[in-house]
Amino acid sequence: MCGIISVLSFRDNISKDLISALERLEYRGYDSAGIAYFDENSNLQRIRTVGKVKLLKEVVQKFDIKSNIGIGHTRWATHGKVTEFNAHPHVADGVAIVHNGIIENYQELRNSLISEGYEFESETDTEVVAKLIASNIKSGKDFIEAFKSAISKLSGTFAIVAIYEKEPNLLLGAKKGSPMAVGLSSDKQSCYIASDAVALSTLADELAYLEEGDIVVVRKFDHLSFEIFENGKDKIEREIVPNKVSLNDVAKNGYESFMLKEISEEAMVARRTFERFKYDINLSKYDSVSIVACGTSYYAGLLSKYWIEEIAKVHVDVEIASEFRYRNPVFSKNSLYIFISQSGETIDTLCAMRLVKEAGIKTLALVNVETSSIAREADIVVKTEAGVEIGVASTKAFVAQTLSLLMMCKKDIDIEAIERSINSVLNSQYDFAKMANKLKNSKSLFYIGRGTNYPISLEGALKIKELSYISAEGYPAGEIKHGPIAIIDENVYTIALAPFDNHFEKTISNTQEILARNGKIFLITTENSRELLHGLDKHEKVDSLFLPEIYSLYQPFALTTVIHLLAYNTAKAKGYDVDKPRNLAKSVTVE
Ligand code: G6P
Repeated sequence: MCGIISVLSFRDNISKDLISALERLEYRGYDSAGIAYFDENSNLQRIRTVGKVKLLKEVVQKFDIKSNIGIGHTRWATHGKVTEFNAHPHVADGVAIVHNGIIENYQELRNSLISEGYEFESETDTEVVAKLIASNIKSGKDFIEAFKSAISKLSGTFAIVAIYEKEPNLLLGAKKGSPMAVGLSSDKQSCYIASDAVALSTLADELAYLEEGDIVVVRKFDHLSFEIFENGKDKIEREIVPNKVSLNDVAKNGYESFMLKEISEEAMVARRTFERFKYDINLSKYDSVSIVACGTSYYAGLLSKYWIEEIAKVHVDVEIASEFRYRNPVFSKNSLYIFISQSGETIDTLCAMRLVKEAGIKTLALVNVETSSIAREADIVVKTEAGVEIGVASTKAFVAQTLSLLMMCKKDIDIEAIERSINSVLNSQYDFAKMANKLKNSKSLFYIGRGTNYPISLEGALKIKELSYISAEGYPAGEIKHGPIAIIDENVYTIALAPFDNHFEKTISNTQEILARNGKIFLITTENSRELLHGLDKHEKVDSLFLPEIYSLYQPFALTTVIHLLAYNTAKAKGYDVDKPRNLAKSVTVE
């Protein structure tokens, strides 16, 4: 949530770096964006716009910016509406800062700064930090001391970068709870502090990741250098690692959106996950498995419950991280706790994991970003092989997560069969656009399924909600008659996931119950069930899609691609931005 970038350079075209990094950081939020820099006369300048980075870029391009130092921000609003006043950077007496996170004690700090005579222009929690640094400078501290002292007074989570007009050769950063990386360009002419490796993919080949409490000081003399201070005190060396994110990873490569690119990679991601899976995890030796996650990652956990209980015969609990961490859970010592997160930065998942660690229990993180906070703090790390995922709605990462979880309990996987089934959807002539045109006007819709089709239904409904803003619910097909069926009428679509499996006939009965109430059905099934439908697919209120016959264990993979393409096409049919759905952000670093 919120992306930050900053640069100190020997070059004077830093605005290009700021904008290109902000474009790559947009997955973290896109309510507003802004930059601050010192002009040729060393005066602090600021440009902010409401909306996506594209708008900021248009404004910035109108100026002939010549500057060696600057900071930038793309916002996902927490405190205060989406307005220019609330957009970052925030400034005070020549100090400018950008912030990702939440300052929990901002009200108290704000009151004390108001009593000192400071006036606030925004409703944000962030502005206090700029004013606090300025106040410290006023009281006689130098910039570094003023920054450190301000940071020590903050509670909450933050990645903050600051610059100060009178110190144009200094760039300062602090990290607690939100991610931050620092790196030099390969020619050593520029040094950057940013939220992540994605922001710096074209800018820095090597990075150091800051740890909790670290403060980084970037200096420019005859050369550029950075120093990291543990808890703001003792100098510490943090490992320098290659920035593995390439230009290819962050480009659309001819696709009209990242989402479509990422869905089209689902078969390849399954293959790569299979080939690189090198973990020897024996789930059967545990009394139970607890899986904790948020969003799509949570649904990956729910799907794996069916597999783990059936194959490894171990009891599985799956929990939403934001609930788990606050409900005083009872821990079981011989349980394996698995934390699933694509980004590895979701704060609720991270804090839930810390809770389990504090209880002295081993944690396993299933993460896509190996340099992320969750990966760094977990005892065992299983890396998913989705590659960089940019679209805010997670797609290919779900495939990597679910296959990794399946591989934790089953060694003999027929990857060809999985790949073939996903490709049968990707390379098919199924008219998703036509179906999407029918769905797009629905006020609400249901996804139903039984067994493993139930978690896929939840994921399908989430995707429709987040991208098309249609109220959609995933339901166990057998449960629909316990309430939701009251909503069914001729305007409501139900998407029934009914491939041929042990539940097939029961799910079909549930679709009949919906048809009997005038509901419309979109039936997703397999060729080998055609005969058993007894003409249901020809019913005037039924549209259907027949997948090839698939071994039931692998059906969730093909169905995943189907529901992702359906969500993509529905959002497209409504004319929405599939990569940046409203109100959302990919990396959720606030509670
Ligand atoms: C956000 C994203 C979702 C993602 C969820 C959990 O809500 O929009 O796509 O599933 O966060 O993220 P994580 O990185 O922990 O998997």
